[in-house]
Amino acid sequence: MRYLTFALTKGRLAGKTMDMLEKIGITCEEMRDKSSRKLIFVNEELKLKFFLAKGPDVPTYVEYGAADIGVVGKDTILEEGRKLYEVMDLGFGACRMCVCGPESAREVLANNQLIRVATKYPNIAKDYFYNKKHQTVEIIKLNGSIELAPIVGLSEVIVDIVETGSTLKENGLKVLEEVCPLSARMVVNQVSMKMEDERIRGLIRELRTVLDEGVSSAGAGIHA
Ligand code: PRP
Repeated sequence: MRYLTFALTKGRLAGKTMDMLEKIGITCEEMRDKSSRKLIFVNEELKLKFFLAKGPDVPTYVEYGAADIGVVGKDTILEEGRKLYEVMDLGFGACRMCVCGPESAREVLANNQLIRVATKYPNIAKDYFYNKKHQTVEIIKLNGSIELAPIVGLSEVIVDIVETGSTLKENGLKVLEEVCPLSARMVVNQVSMKMEDERIRGLIRELRTVLDEGVSSAGAGIHA
């Protein structure tokens, strides 16, 4: 049996992925050591390998087959536009991609004016403004702390991830429009999906059961 390789998004998503995999009996003890700088981990018994990559690189590893499976945010999948199969919504890491800005930007946005949009996600922003809203805008690519842009006058609005909303609130900004909901997804290399069909489908089935159990027990909690 050959190794099945997972590319995980370094950080919180990788931790949550391992929590979920543990529920179906897939463990990787050495990955739990937070002080370790190691990037590749092996479960010899199950013939699985895990490596930790930067989010935007996960779809790249999966498209080229360096990883059979990836776990990455939907934002990254949309932005990178790689050729791969998105097979499952894992539910965690839920947040929203939004157009945000000061309340005063609501009007310029509605009036179809030529505005500047700062974002870490130029492809998502382009698709939203050009293809969905048919609005011509100037997109400015930034690498982080996007909320700064409308405050210091670089752009009228931003397209960014909103999770709790505290970053917006603490900087006097608001959600003006919602682009799409986001969460962690499992992606699979197109060739691996054929070659390792049984193993990968088995894995998806087991994870679905865990997810469904989670949903029904959460539901039970609500109705109790
Ligand atoms: C993300 C995002 C927002 C913030 C949203 O930034 O770009 O700034 O989190 O979260 P909230 O709604 O819970 O406040 P991140 O912390 O990843 O850093 P970045 O600014 O470098 O992108």
